[in-house]
Amino acid sequence: MKDTCCGKQENCCQNDTKIKTEIRVCVSRSCTSFGADSIMQKISEALQLEPGQTNEQFDLDYCGCLGYCSNSPNVLINQDHIIHDAAVDTVMSEIKKGGKELENRILDVENVDEKVNVHFDDYLEK
Ligand code: FES
Repeated sequence: MKDTCCGKQENCCQNDTKIKTEIRVCVSRSCTSFGADSIMQKISEALQLEPGQTNEQFDLDYCGCLGYCSNSPNVLINQDHIIHDAAVDTVMSEIKKGGKELENRILDVENVDEKVNVHFDDYLEK
């Protein structure tokens, strides 16, 4: 696999590019509290990769909050699939299955505004 494309022709190096599985373990507060370090250690041992390293098949690293804190710990696969409530014993099999497709991200403007308003109303009633 070439690290960089020569850039002389459109898609000239495309055939040399292998598809990698990108794995990101959330290490923001909630996921860390619910075992993100153990999850990363398990994945790291299984893939023989340290966080921040890649090989021909995998790209492993940490990431920030994914917006699914109530389902911590969370692992993001290829930017559009996620493993919620990741467990040390099953995380590698879940990665091999590819995780669940991301839908209805929590952190969009409408939902955040709605949650803030609900919280504020609750506060005023007390
Ligand atoms: S802290 Fe991990 S999803 Fe929010």
